[in-house]
Amino acid sequence: MLTLAEMAVEVLTTADGRAKTALSHAHAARWRAARAAGAPLAIGQANPPQRPARPEKPDLLDPREVPRRRPGSPLGRIALLHAVAHIELNAVDLHWDIIARFTDTPMPLGFYDDWVQAADDESKHFNLLCDCLEAMGSHYGAMPAHAFMWQAAEDTASDLLGRLAVVPMVLEARGLDVTPGMIALFTQAKETQAIAALNTIYAEEVAHVAYGSKWFNWLCGRAGDDPKEIFHALVRKYFHGNLKPPFNEEKRAEAGLPPDFYWPLVDQA
Ligand SMILES: [Fe+2]
Ligand SMILES: [Fe+2]
Repeated sequence: MLTLAEMAVEVLTTADGRAKTALSHAHAARWRAARAAGAPLAIGQANPPQRPARPEKPDLLDPREVPRRRPGSPLGRIALLHAVAHIELNAVDLHWDIIARFTDTPMPLGFYDDWVQAADDESKHFNLLCDCLEAMGSHYGAMPAHAFMWQAAEDTASDLLGRLAVVPMVLEARGLDVTPGMIALFTQAKETQAIAALNTIYAEEVAHVAYGSKWFNWLCGRAGDDPKEIFHALVRKYFHGNLKPPFNEEKRAEAGLPPDFYWPLVDQA
């Protein structure tokens, strides 16, 4: 019987996107079934790779070299969905990585329940977007993609609080800010399959930000620290750049992210 950490490493070391997400879903189901049976799998310990395995395509480019396309054109819409699919695949790995990387820090089982669920959600999101791309005559890998997606994971590879601050509470929260605009764009183009996929993503991403906020606050509480001050210090340390309004204040609130966490990190200049 594999431990949860070993299952995480299996996902991280699988390169193909459809294969990675199928394994991710199967492992999530194993974890949930064992939990439901009252016999949780051992967390264990494993050595996650420094970077997850990735398919040969897409080519990974410096974001300044990724060609820009007009979002109003059909090709622009494909490019946008391709970019989101790339983010979702990276998110699958990010959630399994947080499971495998920090096993030295004792955490309640609920921590693992949450990230297994998030990884399973991202696996579904990736497949929904691949289905859209294929229905539009393209596929994941047909265009170049952002090369530095894993940077935040490497920067916070030895800091669980830093990881929670930067990944769910900054990057995934940013997703809540920008997704309504994307849904509007695809609504205007009457792309029903993409609208449905983006609505699913938008609804489920709130929980991922909430998991981040929950466990960040929990860890700060266990240490007797003020979560807001620790959050500001860690984002300034690990996140390159300022946070950019407009923020989706309502969804951020739903996810347990109050305004005094993120507004002070906006560049005032
Ligand atoms: Fe997602
Ligand atoms: Fe997510």
